[in-house]
Amino acid sequence: MRALLPIGALFIVIMMLAQGCTKDSGPYYVTPPLDTINGYDTVYFALDVVPIFVDQCWVCHPPNGGLDLGATNAYSELVNVQSIGFPSETRVVPFEPLQSLLWKKVVHSGEFGLNMPPNVILPNEDLEIIRNWIEQGAQNN
Ligand code: HEC
Repeated sequence: MRALLPIGALFIVIMMLAQGCTKDSGPYYVTPPLDTINGYDTVYFALDVVPIFVDQCWVCHPPNGGLDLGATNAYSELVNVQSIGFPSETRVVPFEPLQSLLWKKVVHSGEFGLNMPPNVILPNEDLEIIRNWIEQGAQNN
């Protein structure tokens, strides 16, 4: 019985070595993190931005401000589109949140009519998503 112990240990060591040698080290598959704030570099319009609009804005848009923020029309009604209520403004200027009416309204700047959503400030993570989306070129991705 005693003699079996070292043999058993040796067997385990051999198995571990064999395992080490046969183990395939590539290719690497990196699973994207699910945390959209800290994980992704890219903000996706459909995945990240539209859900905010649907949750927080769609109840009033359409029709308020002549703006439809539903999933189908939001992009074409925002990017490089002149504002209806404030014709000197563009709703979203790609790469330029500070020139975008959308941004000025959601940060409650008070410069152009009502802040959005009226009486509520979006959570920081939503603001960050909207800002990053504009800064990354307001893509239809
Ligand atoms: C309770 C209703 C309500 C909600 C919710 C709401 N809005 Fe508005 N929104 C309005 C009204 C009313 C106007 C028109 C008056 C104004 O612009 O001051 C407007 C105007 C706007 C405009 C200007 C459109 C233009 O070209 O004149 C933008 C941009 C806008 N909203 C974005 C948003 C966004 C983004 C959200 C969600 C985060 C949102 N709104 C949520 C009522 C709402």
